[in-house]
Amino acid sequence: MLDWSEPASTPLPAADTGPVPLADATGLGDIDRTGGRVSVDEKRMINCRADVNQLLPLKYKWAWDKYLAGCNNHWMPTEVSMQADIALWKSKDGLTEDERRAIKRNLGFFAASESLVANNIVLAIYRHLTNPECRQYLLRQAFEEAVHTHTFQYIVESLGLDEGELFNMYREVPSITDKAAWALKHTQSLDDPDFLTGTQEADQQFLRDLVAFYVVFEGMWFYTGFAQILSLGRRNKMVGIAEQYQYILRDESIHLNFGIDVINQIRIENPHLWTKAFEDEVRGMLRDAAELEAAYGRDTMPRGFLGLNAALCEQYMRFIANRRCAQLGLTPVFAETENPFPWMSEAMDLKKEKNFFETRVIEYQNGGALAWD
Ligand SMILES: [Fe+2]
Ligand SMILES: [Fe+2]
Repeated sequence: MLDWSEPASTPLPAADTGPVPLADATGLGDIDRTGGRVSVDEKRMINCRADVNQLLPLKYKWAWDKYLAGCNNHWMPTEVSMQADIALWKSKDGLTEDERRAIKRNLGFFAASESLVANNIVLAIYRHLTNPECRQYLLRQAFEEAVHTHTFQYIVESLGLDEGELFNMYREVPSITDKAAWALKHTQSLDDPDFLTGTQEADQQFLRDLVAFYVVFEGMWFYTGFAQILSLGRRNKMVGIAEQYQYILRDESIHLNFGIDVINQIRIENPHLWTKAFEDEVRGMLRDAAELEAAYGRDTMPRGFLGLNAALCEQYMRFIANRRCAQLGLTPVFAETENPFPWMSEAMDLKKEKNFFETRVIEYQNGGALAWD
């Protein structure tokens, strides 16, 4: 069992804070021929002055463990049969209009979101996260996001869906646009070529981006999306897509936990960033995100269908938001809520749920068992 527990580190002295030249932060500056060997004590999450090109000695074992877990979970969407989904999608009365709408909006949301998340990692997060073992994980995660985008290409092709309708949906359906736009404003400020970490304001901006993408996008919004499709899968509908979503969910669970560990570790090393005002702001972000999701739920499932409706999805979002608060050491943003989809935790355990959809599940996991969240 891998341990996703609190990242271990002692707070570093604040003496060498302040902006690090971008060339040093990226690791692409001129080589310091007199540079000494890196010691663990010099390594830090952001604003690191030690050489970022030296993976060893490892400091953050939790990041390395997640890299290994990601590699052990390798899968490809094309290994999942789509025959049953194709037959059901093409049949006249296999799916109701409400189910078709929910499936298409769900696919449309994910199709562009996987790309937004990937672009945020590669173009915004990577150069400012000044630790090689975390970057090693980011490189793995970036590949996994490519596999996820590939999944939506494969689904579009298999079902003969309108590719423009699906991939452009994040610009055409207002409740999806609102979610993407909310997250994008956080990555846009980091994408500015003049943006450098090393000041209170900039480092908090970096944290906001991590919260928006890891905690909200991947850790909240994706979860209601998984619940929608897995709920259909439980009723033997779109079982191929549901199986693919199980694998995506397994990947995203690690992405989320990596993001949580990164945020908490930055906080341990930079306690001055985590002010009461900042904490309130993060709680506000999670609350806003839950409201955006509720609007999306109403838009996606205006009438609801068997076992699933907008009210249950909103309740699930509130339950998840409170879980994320706990993981970040924050007081909950909503009143205590029961999990309306307790079966989701079973759906996350691929080993135990081999017959979950009564379909072929390939045993991809070749490492130790994973702790899900
Ligand atoms: Fe993804
Ligand atoms: Fe992800």
